[in-house]
Amino acid sequence: MAAVLRASLTGALSLLSLLGFVLLPRLSYGAPAELRFVSWRSDSPWVWDQAIKDFEARNPGTKVVREIGPHSSTEFHDLVTQKLRNRDPHMDVFFMDVIWPAEFAAAGWALPLDEFFPVSEQQKFLEAPILANRYRGRVYGVPVFIDAGLLYYRRDLLAKYGFSPPQTWPELVRQARRILAEENEPQLTGYSGQFKQYEGLICNMMEYILGNGGALWDETGLSSSLQLASSKEAVRFVRDQIIWGISHRGVLAYQEPESLALFVQGRAVFHRNWPYAWEVANDPKRSKVAGRVGVAALPSFPGGKSVATLGGWQLGISRFSNQPRLAWKFIEFMTGSEMQKRIALFAGRAPARKALYRDADVLKKNPQFRSQFEAFTRAVPRPPVPVYIPLSNIMQRYFSSAISLPGSDIDRLAGAAARDMDRVLDLLKGK
Ligand code: GLC
Repeated sequence: MAAVLRASLTGALSLLSLLGFVLLPRLSYGAPAELRFVSWRSDSPWVWDQAIKDFEARNPGTKVVREIGPHSSTEFHDLVTQKLRNRDPHMDVFFMDVIWPAEFAAAGWALPLDEFFPVSEQQKFLEAPILANRYRGRVYGVPVFIDAGLLYYRRDLLAKYGFSPPQTWPELVRQARRILAEENEPQLTGYSGQFKQYEGLICNMMEYILGNGGALWDETGLSSSLQLASSKEAVRFVRDQIIWGISHRGVLAYQEPESLALFVQGRAVFHRNWPYAWEVANDPKRSKVAGRVGVAALPSFPGGKSVATLGGWQLGISRFSNQPRLAWKFIEFMTGSEMQKRIALFAGRAPARKALYRDADVLKKNPQFRSQFEAFTRAVPRPPVPVYIPLSNIMQRYFSSAISLPGSDIDRLAGAAARDMDRVLDLLKGK
């Protein structure tokens, strides 16, 4: 028995040493470096999966471990900031919404990237997202793509009634009412946008409010502007004409995916969304209205200008990461021309790099970028302040209660929200 044991032990040992001989040269490289990347759930996940595989292939010995968080900017913010508050070393790189860099910089959560991302490189990007990534003279994120609000419409339905894309919001409402009345199709609604209580609600409401000459807050005087007549008038218009006039009530619970789903099912005449919706709406595998979709600038109010909210996502490095150089290598790859071109071609994302708007392949696939470029450069940022999130929370609550009931007391709600905002804005005074 002992002899058998000894024999098998010797066998096992020699097998181990043989394995060691074979494996050692590899093991001497050490364990693979793990880069932890926190991302949201994408609409075109395969594009990002492939990008990560390619990064790993080009950097042997590096493994990207991805944590996929919620799609919603508001919920994703909770996830990322919780990790940062805990100084979690297991997050190296994360996506940042265009409204976060000031907060992350002021809190000491995001690593300043100036040593990696010099001004000469920054100049290759559109100016607005770069400005959004700067805080007190330093840069904290590298833009991956930009977003700007656009109006999608059913080209077939507008043509059937002899309509051109509406130039003003009241015209959009008139067209929708006529189409709904004539089509007499119970499943069809006039408009689909993002009116749930979350960050997307701010983006939508800001387009109406600024388009009507109002504002969210006065950035010089640091006081709320929600109680201005022009701001309240826009909110009233959304409540009475858009939500309770031509939309399905479900729109009050929609974020981007649900509102787009309604449109691609052929159940909305008009749809407000970001540039990526073009790719989804024209993909016959994902859309019943592929080839019957038009896109235009958002309408304005009569005599006013069309306003598109600037959105978009950046990559940042956690101040608590133990491997900022590897993190930078990943960011460099993910924000480089090759990747931005790929996400423009296959995910319909609007590049943050200027040169790609002159790239023949990108323009062939997305000819609409040619005319949209101007609008992208004019898109209006949400004011970049470190207390953006508390201000947004107050505005979200206000907009949501103002539009959710037809008889809401907009004057009272706006007054209360303005007072709450002023208290937060006071924190910025004298800074
Ligand atoms: C998009 C935009 C982002 C915005 C969000 C709101 O993801 O890029 O800036 O905050 O939508 O839902």
